[in-house]
Amino acid sequence: MDLGFADATAVVVGGGRGMGLAAARCLADDGAKVAIVGRTQRVLDEAAADLARRGSPDALGLVADTGDADAVQGVFDQLGERWNGELNVLINAVGPSTQGTFEQLSDDQWRQAFDDGVMGMVHCVRSALPLLRQAQWARIVNFSAHSTQRQTIILPAYTAAKAAVTSISKNLSLLLAPDEIMVNVVSPGSIASEALRGWAESVGVDGSDPYALMAAIDKHFGHPAHLPRAGLPDEIGPVVAFLASKRNSYMTGANVNVDGGSDFT
Ligand SMILES: NC(=O)c1ccc[n+]([C@@H]2O[C@H](COP(=O)([O-])OP(=O)(O)OC[C@H]3O[C@@H](n4cnc5c(N)ncnc54)[C@H](OP(=O)(O)O)[C@@H]3O)[C@@H](O)[C@H]2O)c1
Repeated sequence: MDLGFADATAVVVGGGRGMGLAAARCLADDGAKVAIVGRTQRVLDEAAADLARRGSPDALGLVADTGDADAVQGVFDQLGERWNGELNVLINAVGPSTQGTFEQLSDDQWRQAFDDGVMGMVHCVRSALPLLRQAQWARIVNFSAHSTQRQTIILPAYTAAKAAVTSISKNLSLLLAPDEIMVNVVSPGSIASEALRGWAESVGVDGSDPYALMAAIDKHFGHPAHLPRAGLPDEIGPVVAFLASKRNSYMTGANVNVDGGSDFT
């Protein structure tokens, strides 16, 4: 299926690794120009070279901390000049890493969760909107999490930030509907990205084995998916790519679970 990415321009914030990179690769495979944003130039350069090899005619990595609104604006100003003032796709894959039960979390940790998880996305959407509005077609995809639908006691701040992302995305889908700019959310389940693999290693489990990973999640959090294994970043990328594509012509305001099966909606 041709998703219509030839000649399209896309920014994947948090595209240097994990599910953001997996989505960026799908767009590059289909010929989109892709800018990935993160805080580590070396990682971004390696990922951008991979995107170019896969077929992106213009792949680049730009450094910005999404918590820094001026730095984010600088990235989109630069891309506006490079891409004739237009942008088709914005994907926000950055999330907070805050862990701790309600009683363990300090005010600073709560603020950090909202800075990383919510304000970063707000900064990116705000800076991207003038470019998205100029494009012939435009899509936004934001990452939430399945934990918003089934709580984990060590993730109240992370989960609250993700719930805010879902709510703001829904609001944006309404705001931008008259311009036919579609805004959707993807809610991953337990996906074997670097962070989750690192957690697995910390509890003595081989994080590279998705079956062992899901067994550990079940043991520690009681949250098994219906499928007996964790997901892989490459299993999220195509779903994000479809939502971000011109081919997605009638889905907006949706929250799509990609979680290996669950009993919540
Ligand atoms: N993995 C899971 O099981 C799971 C489940 C549900 C939801 N999610 C959500 O899905 C999304 C992707 O998760 P992932 O595990 O694939 O991501 P990841 O491997 O943790 O990668 C996150 C990316 O974002 C960049 N980043 C982090 N903080 C940033 C900041 N302040 N400014 C700019 N870039 C920043 C990182 O690069 P630098 O560190 O170099 O900046 C990295 O490239 C996240 O929103 C996460 O919360 C994950």
